[in-house]
Amino acid sequence: MKIGILTSGGDAPGMNAAIRAVVRSALYHKFDVYGINRGYAGLLEKDITPLNVYSVADILQKGGTILRTSRSEFFTTEAGQKRAADVLQEYGIDHLVVIGGDGSLNGALKLKQLGVSIVGIPGTIDNDFGASDFTIGFDTAVSTAIDAIGKIRDTTFSHNRINVVQVMGRTCGDIALYAGFSVGAEALIIPEIETNLEGICGRLLAGKDRGKLHSIVMLAEGCGSYRDYCKKIEELTQVTTKGTNLGYIQRGGSPSHFDRNLAGFMGYKAVETIVEGNTGVVIVQRKGEYKAVPLEEALATPKVFRRDMYKISKMLSI
Ligand code: ADP
Ligand code: F6P
Repeated sequence: MKIGILTSGGDAPGMNAAIRAVVRSALYHKFDVYGINRGYAGLLEKDITPLNVYSVADILQKGGTILRTSRSEFFTTEAGQKRAADVLQEYGIDHLVVIGGDGSLNGALKLKQLGVSIVGIPGTIDNDFGASDFTIGFDTAVSTAIDAIGKIRDTTFSHNRINVVQVMGRTCGDIALYAGFSVGAEALIIPEIETNLEGICGRLLAGKDRGKLHSIVMLAEGCGSYRDYCKKIEELTQVTTKGTNLGYIQRGGSPSHFDRNLAGFMGYKAVETIVEGNTGVVIVQRKGEYKAVPLEEALATPKVFRRDMYKISKMLSI
């Protein structure tokens, strides 16, 4: 029996640890393993190579993905999906493991509907996959943001300024929320909460009146650019306001212990699930437990916003 594996969409720290876990678990069960390079684009172009125990040596701690990744327009079409299923058949790949975000897992569902035996693993720094408490890469991205914000805070304090720190997350404010909570950010601007900039500036000024010498405002990219917010906040507060877009540093780096463990368990569970004959699923972590949930159900599960965390963060950062 043959298992194929690919990574798709935005890369995330811990994807390599997940690849290693899938490959080593599959080899343990005597499967042949094939690495499909560059996600669905590579599958369509038949960019496929056999993987062995050495192919995944020394990658556990590395950021990025050794299989590389892509976004493929053609794969989103029926013709593209049909061709992808045909390539899998041509190579005799019996089961496919897809590691990626929401978009990649939607693609996996399309292949399932064409009869492909498939297992998904949620890997994205955004943590925007409602079926799983956490996605691979999120914890590392938050830690990277915390580290960078510590440095930004030093200079923001010295100059008695406000600094707007923009992090990734188009529709999901989790990186801003978790990093903001961890650094005691004075304000959070995230897609889940309607922004009241006058209210935020009022709070920043009240803090200043009480003797606060600087403030950090966390901004999720889905709410707009830090440049616009800097301008408006400076106008409203009359305090010099600078901004920083943390950008792609959030997507790189060696994965945290949390992401390595998440990846290891999810990769292992993906193969166990295949061995049990239960495919068409995605592996999720809920309250510390790993489960295989049908792709349809997982993709329909709404993301629950941690309103409690938002409230506490606001309360503690007066
Ligand atoms: P992520 O997986 O990180 O969310 P994308 O949303 O860019 O990243 O998705 C990665 C790839 O998955 C896309 O380039 C496309 O080929 C495929 N994909 C995304 N959404 C769908 C969909 N609804 N149907 C089929 N394929 C999809
Ligand atoms: O992986 C998800 C994500 O990091 C989003 O938070 C961000 O908007 C997007 O990817 C950026 O992707 P690209 O690599 O296409 O610039």
